Amino acid sequence: MKTKILMVCLGNICRSPLAEGILRSKMSGETVTVDSAGTADYHIGEAPDPRSVAIARKHNIDISNQLGRKFQVSDFDEFDHIYVMDNSNYNNVIGMARSAEDEQKTDLILNLAYPGENMDVPDPYYGGPQGFENVFKMLDHACDILVKKLKNNHSR
Ligand code: 4NP
Repeated sequence: MKTKILMVCLGNICRSPLAEGILRSKMSGETVTVDSAGTADYHIGEAPDPRSVAIARKHNIDISNQLGRKFQVSDFDEFDHIYVMDNSNYNNVIGMARSAEDEQKTDLILNLAYPGENMDVPDPYYGGPQGFENVFKMLDHACDILVKKLKNNHSR
């Protein structure tokens, strides 16, 4: 069965579309479904920020066709794991959880790399290109660990 993963940030135009594209590029399509969403409704239906598209393209990943959407309660039913980018996203998503099960499937993405440290992927929206490079590196590292976890689960 496919594992369904949802990446969540605030606007769904900078960080979570990158996380979606990076994870998809590392996994074969048969084993996982990846999507992303934002906790805010600022950029519904929009393509990712050009700076995210550019940093992804630099690493041979095309995220230009992804479209912004808002996180909704039904995503708890749709997805097995919900990875949020920062503590504010975490609080927003947990605030919509209906059960302990909903809460348990939600975690900060950097807890994959630094368990229990509750670190943020910093919001690069108001900064320069270096911020996007930094975000890419963080997400690439976290997704490498996630891929290992997912492959272990599938081989069992
Ligand atoms: P993201 O970045 O949450 O990584 O997509 C942001 C994008 C847009 C805004 C804030 C953060 N905004 O305020 O419009």
